[in-house]
Amino acid sequence: MTTTLNLGKIYAPVLAGLDRVPALIRETLDTPIPKMREMVDHFFSKNGKNLRPALIFLGAGLARSLQPGPGIPSERNETAELYLAAATEIFHAATLIHDDIIDSAPLRRGVSALHIKSGPQAAVLAGDFFHDRAIVAIFRYGNERIIPLFLKTAGEICEGEVLEISEKKNINMTEETHLEIIRKKTASLLACALQTGAFIWGMDIEKAEALGRFGNFFGIAFQLIDDLLDFTGNESEFGKTLGSDLEEGVYTLPVIRCLTSGDRDKVVRVLYSRSQRRRFSTLKEVLEKSGALDYALAKANGFIVAAKKELEVFPPSVFRASLEQLADYVLERNR
Ligand code: IPE
Ligand code: IPE
Ligand code: MG
Ligand code: MG
Repeated sequence: MTTTLNLGKIYAPVLAGLDRVPALIRETLDTPIPKMREMVDHFFSKNGKNLRPALIFLGAGLARSLQPGPGIPSERNETAELYLAAATEIFHAATLIHDDIIDSAPLRRGVSALHIKSGPQAAVLAGDFFHDRAIVAIFRYGNERIIPLFLKTAGEICEGEVLEISEKKNINMTEETHLEIIRKKTASLLACALQTGAFIWGMDIEKAEALGRFGNFFGIAFQLIDDLLDFTGNESEFGKTLGSDLEEGVYTLPVIRCLTSGDRDKVVRVLYSRSQRRRFSTLKEVLEKSGALDYALAKANGFIVAAKKELEVFPPSVFRASLEQLADYVLERNR
């Protein structure tokens, strides 16, 4: 499939805010400790997709579009949007730094993972430091709806990651458990980012809940595609090592699907085979032939359809259009 959507275009309505985020990330993570500064510089030497800051601005844009008339300009809210966008990206970075240690992943955003560059001891602490600075900003710029949401989400991400660890190498893991893991470890923060933007501008409960459901469905699809790219992606574009889930004993949806099919015995043999290269290439072939990769793609598509349905309660706006395109982009993405 050729990618017709690109993030630059999709983010157009929120680009002004996004452009300001990198400087605010640096400001929020300012530190006199040279080693910590070096780790901040290394981690942010390459940009990610900026998905979470974009979702903050899009959630905020949607909430503003609901206000009568031109809306009351509020400098305080606009500042909150910017600092909370930076804080959310920093918070996400903290989870990535820790996740790469947990997953023994050598690459992140196309460069060495922080634990490879600076050692696991310093990287664990950098992850904590990122998390703590993000929380300080969230307490400073958030409100009585945003702060508890963030703290709850932080706990859910940990639960998702720990549940994933406890299900490693379980050839009987159910699809339901797997979806619960990815909802918690990934979708929860995407939903939180959208709702944070919306809560800055006081979106009503019902609409904010619809936005939260959009974030959850969208986030599950996002992770399902990420897991497919772990088999089918191009390493330099993806910026992460392929086959890493498999090597860590993390079985993602295509594998889980195959384990409940007529191919179960074959898949188990491959999973237990000694040669790493053989394991990856043989499994990829089985997953392709059995239709398990297509199954996971269809599942992701189903979540995207469900996500887009949740947006119907919002009147048409550039922000809603952007979220719809972002949802389609997830199915086409290569990085
Ligand atoms: C990576 O998130 C972790 C997952 C949830 C799959 P992103 O794919 O949004 O990472 P960056 O921020 O673009 O690097
Ligand atoms: C990412 O999970 C979720 C969190 C960082 C909490 P993965 O381990 O599947 O993501 P990648 O492949 O390392 O980006
Ligand atoms: Mg990982
Ligand atoms: Mg992981």
